[in-house]
Amino acid sequence: MDVKAFLDVLVEEIHSVVIATTDENGLPCTRVIDMMMHDDDAVYFLTAKGKAFYKQLMEKPYVSLSGLTTGNGTMDKKSISISGAIRNIGSEKLEEIFEKNPYMATIYPSDESRTALEVFCLYKGQGAYFDLSTKPITRGSFSLGGKTIQNYGYFITEDCTGCGLCVEKCPQNCISVGEPYKINQDNCLHCGNCFSVCPEKAVIKTILN
Ligand SMILES: Cc1cc2nc3c(=O)[nH]c(=O)nc-3n(C[C@H](O)[C@H](O)[C@H](O)COP(=O)(O)O)c2cc1C
Repeated sequence: MDVKAFLDVLVEEIHSVVIATTDENGLPCTRVIDMMMHDDDAVYFLTAKGKAFYKQLMEKPYVSLSGLTTGNGTMDKKSISISGAIRNIGSEKLEEIFEKNPYMATIYPSDESRTALEVFCLYKGQGAYFDLSTKPITRGSFSLGGKTIQNYGYFITEDCTGCGLCVEKCPQNCISVGEPYKINQDNCLHCGNCFSVCPEKAVIKTILN
């Protein structure tokens, strides 16, 4: 999946997410906010100037968000999470947002009432995708605004002797036989079973770039 496909899931399928900021005491706080639209690699949302959320965004322009699709139980769901930097773009894109999301007109019916609203752009950050509806699970990551992606993952090094203990312990069957054995990163749960069972310490946990 490319960035656009991930952002389509976020805006079109998930739409309402839980988004975290920090309050005046540096403590985390969350609320539900709609992801109104996206372009190639930025997401847009809005809030009203009177809200604590607005104040927190203006004071510390970073957010962390997670949302999930509705579905028939946990095994039917996909999630997207993004952490990154935001900027206030004022009333830019406000009209476009109201056109694309007609329900907004029931909350803010008049132009007068909409003057309370300002738009924010999540323009740089790192995103993660997790899909429990596939077998094995599917994970993915993406970047916004050219941020280097830092993915933690488990890798099997050349020290692998091919004993196969990791294959037996992998709950998603995502380790394939070879020299060395190989973990399929797209399907790995990051449970750490392979890491703990390997007698050769051939499994390492590292950052992917
Ligand atoms: C489904 C749903 C979607 C929401 N979307 C938004 C939104 O896009 N923008 C907004 O300002 N508030 C939205 N709200 C309301 C906020 O969650 C609520 O005002 C919250 O209290 C604001 O956070 P704060 O109290 O930290 O300022 C939404 C609420 C729900 C239930």
